[in-house]
Amino acid sequence: MDIQLASRVSALTPSSTLAITAKAKAMKAEGIDVIGLGAGEPDFNTPQHIIDAAIESMNKGLTKYTATGGLPELKKAIINKFMQDQHIEYKPFEIIVTNGAKHALYTLFQVILNEGDEVIIPIPYWVSYPEQVKLAGGQPIYIIGEEINNFKITPEQLKASITEKTKAIIINSPSNPTGMLYTRDELSKLGEICLEHNVLIISDEIYEKLTYGEHKHISIAEISPELKAQTIIINGVSKSHSMTGWRIGYAAGNSEIIKAMTDLASHSTSNPTTPSQYGAIAAYNGSQEPVETMREAFENRLNVIYDKLIQIPGVTCLKPQGAFYLFPNVKEAAINCGYQSVDELAAALLAEANVAVIPGSGFGAEDYIRLSYATSLDLLEKAVSRIAEFIENKLN
Ligand SMILES: Cc1ncc(COP(=O)(O)O)c(C=O)c1O
Repeated sequence: MDIQLASRVSALTPSSTLAITAKAKAMKAEGIDVIGLGAGEPDFNTPQHIIDAAIESMNKGLTKYTATGGLPELKKAIINKFMQDQHIEYKPFEIIVTNGAKHALYTLFQVILNEGDEVIIPIPYWVSYPEQVKLAGGQPIYIIGEEINNFKITPEQLKASITEKTKAIIINSPSNPTGMLYTRDELSKLGEICLEHNVLIISDEIYEKLTYGEHKHISIAEISPELKAQTIIINGVSKSHSMTGWRIGYAAGNSEIIKAMTDLASHSTSNPTTPSQYGAIAAYNGSQEPVETMREAFENRLNVIYDKLIQIPGVTCLKPQGAFYLFPNVKEAAINCGYQSVDELAAALLAEANVAVIPGSGFGAEDYIRLSYATSLDLLEKAVSRIAEFIENKLN
């Protein structure tokens, strides 16, 4: 059969993160001792009380469709979380529970964008933002978050990139891939410009719970009632509670937007998976101790491997403040080792040093690589030693 795919998917770039991870898995299956630093998910098990709650719900027969926007008890748990963590109040009709945070973003772009509407995306960006915007007919407008400014954009840059077509901006703090956080003051200044030009703020807070040292997450929506009204928060339990496979995320904000998202979801997914919703209720209503235990483990790993990483010749790296990624600049190392690009270096690291890293080109920043420290300290130390040895051998 001669199949002609829709033009909207022919331009789609597959996720570079998933591509490298798949290649590393295939090498592993062949018996090669590959260490994968590509993972975008915590390596811990989902806390037991969450698993138990989901099993209990299924044993009780709670396995049917739910309301499209999520179980009322789950919305209540999310509302309580916002009250506790951000001191902001949402009503149930201002929240939609979705099949992961990715699906919340996807649905959001589908309901707010018309053909040609512009969405400002700071570079480095999470790989799915540009593709999701384009799938909804939107136009990504990139602003480079310079390394000298901790990969964050400035109010001046934002002002200069706003046009009549600007519909929204994405703020991802803590950031994937850089691990950097915006401060309250920085968010206030960016927010002021968004209010002035009526730009919707999409605040992706999925790494909220993973912050280190003195750095603390601030949501732009908690700064003022005006900014809360201008913001859609995206969050979920995937990273905070190690529940990536459960597929529970949510969006909170303007009720008209949330209603449109719910109407769209009613024709696409019907509802987020029911047992997962019961798990997510337990995640938010139960003890938060496992969340803190996982955070501490990530922070410990970061401190150990960061010091080793920055000793590698030609590698520089800002110390991440959150999430579970390191985003070193390896341009000099790549050139000194005889490669034309960091992409080539990343390919060689996988093929010759058996370490899988994600090239920064997938995040719009081609001089960098992303290393995930969502793996055991033992393997991390081994992986960084392999990278160091590989680069040092090439230099000699
Ligand atoms: C910045 C960012 N936003 C959203 C998501 C999606 O999260 P979920 O697994 O809940 O769909 C991810 C996952 O990698 C992410 O890194």
